Amino acid sequence: MAFDIILRDGNVFYGGGLHRTSIGIKDGIITAIGSIEEIGGNNTINLHGKLVIPGGVDPHTHIEGYSSAGTIKNGTTGAAIGGTTTVLDFSQATENEDTVRAAESKIKRFSEQSPLDFTVKPMMVTADFESEEKLEGIFMGLQKSGIMAVKLFTTYKNLGRYANNYQILMAMQIARKHGIMVQIHAENNDFIEGNMDALLRAGKTGPVYHARSKPDISEDIAVADAAIAAKESGSKVYCVHLSTKNSPEIIDMARKNGTDIYGETCPQYLILDEEYLNGDRGNEYICSPPLRKKSDIDAMWNALASGKIHAVGSDHVPFLREQKKPGIPFNKVPNGVPGIETRLPLLFSEGVQKGRITLQRFVDLISSGPARIFGIYPRKGAIDIGSDADIAVIDTEMEHGLRAEDLHMGTDISLYGHMKTRGWPVLTLAGGKIVAENDVFTETGRRGKFLGRGDINE
Ligand code: URP
Ligand code: ZN
Ligand code: ZN
Repeated sequence: MAFDIILRDGNVFYGGGLHRTSIGIKDGIITAIGSIEEIGGNNTINLHGKLVIPGGVDPHTHIEGYSSAGTIKNGTTGAAIGGTTTVLDFSQATENEDTVRAAESKIKRFSEQSPLDFTVKPMMVTADFESEEKLEGIFMGLQKSGIMAVKLFTTYKNLGRYANNYQILMAMQIARKHGIMVQIHAENNDFIEGNMDALLRAGKTGPVYHARSKPDISEDIAVADAAIAAKESGSKVYCVHLSTKNSPEIIDMARKNGTDIYGETCPQYLILDEEYLNGDRGNEYICSPPLRKKSDIDAMWNALASGKIHAVGSDHVPFLREQKKPGIPFNKVPNGVPGIETRLPLLFSEGVQKGRITLQRFVDLISSGPARIFGIYPRKGAIDIGSDADIAVIDTEMEHGLRAEDLHMGTDISLYGHMKTRGWPVLTLAGGKIVAENDVFTETGRRGKFLGRGDINE
């Protein structure tokens, strides 16, 4: 058989283990794995034993979101250079749009501009929960548009995103009927509002007080509420960006009790402690939930290793330093940090290279796990015959800097500028096309496909 590309002699992670072998790709699909005959016209790349894994599936990106500096171009460039080939992004209604229309217009923009396959998950707003009829109409519209998941917020009353427990349970019941997964941003609004008022009244406005306003308990209670509502409704529920030592335990307890619930964390909750909020550039480290203590970080690594957390997302929001400059009080600093490019290499370097997780857990957390949860496995998240040829090749000994100028995400902020990774993706293929090589993005003309409900394997 003739192939479009042969990746020869890689150390390929497939079928749960490493195999020194070759991969044949035709029409964007993996069509052969093993000893492959050269046929005239094949484009062969010799990998000389480099590590080959399924391309990253980032379950949590805000490319373009929140008035940040993010664009589809810089978000997908950073993703591709960092080995990520599928982005599960969010949409949010602006004043002139409703939740369904906002999702549809984001699908259109990504279809026109993104070189990577993608999905769009609407972030719902408080106005969506006005009545059961309104919610029903929204979920019907989302189902028709092929949407596979939504995100609900248990906080941000001030930003018009909050939903109360009654509304969340109702949304889960309706979402279940329409086969739509519910993602929860789990932070209890009552604790946060109370703490924020007290801190601001006492004149405590520095970045570390962002963390003080959102103590572990504010997350733990909201995760427990979400787990109970998930059980009651029978809905599939995914708790995003978990950060505390208790959250994975709550999720695990609920799963043992038959609840269809999953937990995600992010590199920032695995690497950076709240001390970073005390530095000169503390505002750049403000995200929600906030950075935590060393004991939370250690517990989160243990949860990754033991399978109590199921995915690692970047929660990428690329603000600029100017937008998070010193002196802005913590309650006015835009929340969110960049990370679409560094998610996969950081987890490899800090996780596998430091012996905290196995290679299998790494692949599961950054690719196969999210693909399974979102129903797009084994098309995504696997190196196998018939899977999309979405592949990352990692030079496991390459040292790579993490200063903003070493990266390509369209921001001058980097949380990890003081660090280097051991291991970095040197070649990334999406749909059989080389989209990045040695830190250079390649414009192939490829346009990514929207992964909708029709693509879900249930
Ligand atoms: O601080 C964060 N995480 N900002 C992004 C929005 C969200 O809640 O995920
Ligand atoms: Zn969130
Ligand atoms: Zn987010």
